[in-house]
Amino acid sequence: MDWFVGVLSLLCCFVLYYRHLQSKKTCKEEPTEWPLLGHLFGMIADLRRPDYHDWATVVLAGTRYNFPAHAGLTGVRYFVTCDPSNVRHIFTSNFLNYPKGEEFGQIFDVLGNGIFNADGESWQRQRAKSQLLMAGPRFRVFSARCGRDKIGLPVVPFARAMDDVLATVILRHIIPPACWRLMYRYELGPEKKMAVARRTIDQFAADMIAKRKSEHNLCGESVSESSDMLSSFISNGDASDEFLRDTAVNLLLAGRDTTGTALSWFFYLLCKNPRVEQRILDELAPIAATKMLATANDMVVFDVGELSNIVYLHAALCECLRLYPPVPFLHKAAAAGDVLPSGHEMKAGDKILIYSYSMGRMEGVWGMDCMELRPERWLADDRKLRYEPSYKFMAFNAGPRTCLGKEVAFTQMKVVAAAVLWNFAVEAVPGHVVEPKLSIILHMKNGFAVALKRRNFPSVHG
Ligand code: HEM
Repeated sequence: MDWFVGVLSLLCCFVLYYRHLQSKKTCKEEPTEWPLLGHLFGMIADLRRPDYHDWATVVLAGTRYNFPAHAGLTGVRYFVTCDPSNVRHIFTSNFLNYPKGEEFGQIFDVLGNGIFNADGESWQRQRAKSQLLMAGPRFRVFSARCGRDKIGLPVVPFARAMDDVLATVILRHIIPPACWRLMYRYELGPEKKMAVARRTIDQFAADMIAKRKSEHNLCGESVSESSDMLSSFISNGDASDEFLRDTAVNLLLAGRDTTGTALSWFFYLLCKNPRVEQRILDELAPIAATKMLATANDMVVFDVGELSNIVYLHAALCECLRLYPPVPFLHKAAAAGDVLPSGHEMKAGDKILIYSYSMGRMEGVWGMDCMELRPERWLADDRKLRYEPSYKFMAFNAGPRTCLGKEVAFTQMKVVAAAVLWNFAVEAVPGHVVEPKLSIILHMKNGFAVALKRRNFPSVHG
């Protein structure tokens, strides 16, 4: 009987202690802070939540946009934020004190020394080079089949490998480095997928580089700078294979998943907001009318120039990127101690996770109707686009490291969205569950199943 009383007393102590830990929380949803382990256990356990991004948003709303956490004895300190004043400080005013950090390069080792991992001089050099290339009239990373797997089509190994990397990297942001490195070394758990994916990506890039090189050797200068980015670097003759590999993989990641993901969420939101869809169609109607005269009953495809003054579609895309930013959180590290505008103290080496997904859903930042798709919030009285600072709308990052492909991305998204919407009614398949996948890109877990119905214009849009 004595052992029973002992166990019962221990259990009571544990319950009382647990209640004490719960009472210390600012927000009841936040991870519990345990002795020795800190928040680590809770943070890893919470990664299993199917609604992870929404849960993080509730925590950040409950903790007034900032949540400092730590991993106990491992000494790792995290600072999770979606506070615009902190973002402005970290990404712009005190930019030099907040690099990506060495650890980011290790977490995202698949990107090698490419622009996403680079800091300081190497980043400046790569940014200048990429800017030049992307300003070219025929910018392409390289042409190859590297898109996402489609239902019923054969698996694309590179696309699958990239998805595996992106899903595993999120764990590496939370798990202490010594643990995931050990798992990677012995190819254990999620790190097994990472090791396999890494080999697939390396092979894909090596094949592409070898192909371009042999084309260059056959045709000499005539393969030329204009064909794609890889060929352009190869014909310059001063790039190592490692540089070519890293640049290609970085730019493929930058442009492949982001725009595609944004468009998936865009069509998803329009299915739920027919009013917005109709206003886009009304805006396209005058342009389409002139084209339809020329093309009779063929599909209407809009040119880049024709869409340059289209503001409502642009505003609707911004609204979609606010609610579903393709990069839902960003990573920084503090180089030296600092105090953030929110009053939180940073120590050298602190990991900072900036939740852009949550920032887009904060009432204090976007107003009481922040959960609604309302493109009008992006329009000024004169029906021109309203400027929103990037520390508040950070889908494309903020400060000196703002996305280099922002304009390209808007152009691509507008052309695709306009053509699909004008020619087809996009209807969500009833019963298909749409939810974000836990990854550093906001992919849809089960994709977005739709039925496309050819619109019967001109009668539909008048
Ligand atoms: C909707 C589409 C896009 C979104 C939402 C987006 C978003 C972002 C974000 C959040 C970053 C910062 C990432 C980080 O620092 O960890 C970034 C960086 C970057 N993006 Fe994009 N991006 C998009 C499309 C593109 C496209 C089409 C390209 C061109 C291929 C591109 C090229 C880049 C580059 C080169 C950087 C690195 C900039 C630097 O570190 O200086 N992006 N983008």
